[in-house]
Amino acid sequence: MRVLLTGGAGYIGSHTLLKLLRQGHEALVLDNFSNSSPRALGRVKQLAQADFEVREGSICDAERLDQVFAEFRPEAVIHFAGLKAVGESNEKPLHYYAQNVSGSITLLAAMQKHDCRQMVFSSSATVYGDAAYLPYDEAHPLQPTNPYGRTKLFIEEIIRDWAASWPDASAVLLRYFNPVGADPSGQIGEDPQAIPNNLVPYIAQVAVGRLPFLSIFGGDYDTRDGTGERDYIHVEDLAAAHLAAVSFGHSQTGCEAINIGTGHGTTVLELLRAFERASGRKVPHKIVAERAGDVARSFASVTKARTLLGWQAERNLDDMCHSTWNWQSRNPDGYDA
Ligand code: NAD
Ligand code: UFG
Repeated sequence: MRVLLTGGAGYIGSHTLLKLLRQGHEALVLDNFSNSSPRALGRVKQLAQADFEVREGSICDAERLDQVFAEFRPEAVIHFAGLKAVGESNEKPLHYYAQNVSGSITLLAAMQKHDCRQMVFSSSATVYGDAAYLPYDEAHPLQPTNPYGRTKLFIEEIIRDWAASWPDASAVLLRYFNPVGADPSGQIGEDPQAIPNNLVPYIAQVAVGRLPFLSIFGGDYDTRDGTGERDYIHVEDLAAAHLAAVSFGHSQTGCEAINIGTGHGTTVLELLRAFERASGRKVPHKIVAERAGDVARSFASVTKARTLLGWQAERNLDDMCHSTWNWQSRNPDGYDA
């Protein structure tokens, strides 16, 4: 199929692009490189031994989208593009709504204009907010606790209405839990532009010597060891879920929200120890105050993904830590080395 990847140069986009190319799909990446490096795309090209199109531009630019859709005539869009820093979204909510929500509306309008009926959207477990029960299933109430999370919820609702208004349209809303890890080649991986907000890139930068120690946010949660528990999902498994979603959406109409996780929680301390084993390095750490807005425990019900997509996670925590360390140790300064 011809697949347009918005934000395809980013962390999850680049891993998905590689898998799409290896399965023989045609791809075009539209990215404004606000949080990624064109070098990631060069590396994907080498790894895949296959070519694809790249256009620099924003999903907020209707004219640019018009050109891209007219030239490439995509059959499906995987929509990764967006801003994702929770803290920044509290400081600049309007910027987040403009980029994420308005950008998605502009994209959906271009799809309709050019008769592209299939959408796979990068949503997030953050749409659930505080757990009314666990595991989170797709019927759990949706109450995000910050502007970033609300952009994801609003976009989900807009896509749902878009799909309902167009009988031919198909949309899959993938609610990712905590994506981590890297391609086993060590050539592509997560490369945060500033000090990482997320646990695994932070640990990796401590292990490689770029940061002095890890602050563990909270040691008194109601979990096995008092530290926060999350459902970490290997980015290669997540990439495979996108291929399954593209294939599912091809033969369906309507809109489905689907959790993408492993179904198991891991605490911060468990992850830290697994990373120390994988890297052979000590990760200095101290327990500090809880981070505002963090939940104690988050993990997915994965039944719907198995049933509808025929997909389930195959990689474990050790694979996640080994591949992260392989990427970080080969690229201590990310793509800009
Ligand atoms: P990323 O920042 O690495 O990738 C996003 C890409 O989109 C970047 O290449 C960036 O340059 C591009 N981009 C941003 N705004 C754009 C715009 N207006 N026009 C064109 N390109 C634009 O992030 P990621 O981790 O790969 O996440 C991909 C998607 O998945 C995002 O929508 C994110 O919100 C969502 N998500 C990520 C996580 C996570 O923990 N990584 C969890 C849940 C959901
Ligand atoms: N943590 C630390 N120290 C750090 C960073 C994180 O102790 O320096 C802890 C957090 O308190 C939490 C766990 O590690 O218990 C995971 O934190 P992350 O920031 O890596 O991930 P979150 O679960 O908070 O949030 C992530 C993404 C969101 C997304 C959410 C659900 O950042 O965008 O997963 O998908 F919405």
